[in-house]
Amino acid sequence: MIRTALTRRFDLGTPVIGAPMAGVAGGALAAAVSRAGGLGMIGIAGNHTAEFVTAQCAIPASAGLPFGVGLMAWVLDDRPDLLQATIAARPALVSVSFGDPGPYVAPLHDAGIAVAVQVNTVADVHRAEAAGADVIVAQGSEAGGHTGHRATLPLLQEVLTLTDLPVVAAGGIATGRGMAAVLAAGAAGVWIGTPLLACPEGLNSPTARARVQAAAGEETVLTRAFDVAQRLAWPSRWPGRALVNEFSRTWHGREEELARDDVASQRVVDARRSDDLDQAPVYAGESVGLVTAERSATDVVRDLTAGAERALRAVPDLLA
Ligand SMILES: Cc1cc2nc3c(=O)[nH]c(=O)nc-3n(C[C@H](O)[C@H](O)[C@H](O)COP(=O)(O)O)c2cc1C
Repeated sequence: MIRTALTRRFDLGTPVIGAPMAGVAGGALAAAVSRAGGLGMIGIAGNHTAEFVTAQCAIPASAGLPFGVGLMAWVLDDRPDLLQATIAARPALVSVSFGDPGPYVAPLHDAGIAVAVQVNTVADVHRAEAAGADVIVAQGSEAGGHTGHRATLPLLQEVLTLTDLPVVAAGGIATGRGMAAVLAAGAAGVWIGTPLLACPEGLNSPTARARVQAAAGEETVLTRAFDVAQRLAWPSRWPGRALVNEFSRTWHGREEELARDDVASQRVVDARRSDDLDQAPVYAGESVGLVTAERSATDVVRDLTAGAERALRAVPDLLA
């Protein structure tokens, strides 16, 4: 059994957090992660309603399983209803990422809810600590979805020198060996998104799950093109890592032109509705090449944990 500051704080069987992934990680995926002893999180974005938050949180809660909710700070600024619905659902952990978590920590703490913040820079760490975060998530640019520009391992090592809070590693961790590596480096746990993208409990369509399984690790791109096309107000410092497709091949690097092209913009909006994945984004990280089968999230977390235990047991053999 792997014990860390994270498992002790949240009474987990394994230091694995199922990343909040808007559009993919609903209550069923979170429940499947928690069933394996991890902590599954539900991803909430600006296109969600407070009712969606309540309904998704009820899935793990009604099964007696712990869960978390991932919110976006830049969205909350205009959507206090999402924060209120989250607090009412009483999750064990709430992450407030992609923006200033400052205004949101006190209401969560007042309700007895721990707060995590994903960080991408040194300045982010200082801001999260000043805001009163309980857990820091060092999110490297290998990650799927929106992320920063620094790689996981150097970012993790630097964050560990900056804070005494538990630091969880996110971005590119998809095997027991990878999990063991970041735990050995000092992380208190792992925060995995991409390894869960082909799980049937997720909200991804069967077509999206098939794309994920077919993609190689080289076939992702960190781009703002999908946000610009959808006229989303995502702050520009967080582009999104998605599978390369026809749309990204055409428009990545031409975002200014795209901002003026309403036809191309409409094509992405329509493609999202019709699940046309040549034009719509499939957010996925660099570890996507390791996701080759459709498996339950419970099995993914169990195998990851067993693999990490094996890898950690082998470490003493390296010492002369
Ligand atoms: C499809 C997808 C959607 C995501 N949505 C969110 C989100 O809503 N909120 C959030 O804080 N992070 C989101 N992320 C980022 C994850 O929280 C996490 O940092 C990332 O998945 C970890 O790296 P990995 O994908 O290499 O495992 C998303 C990631 C993916 C792949």
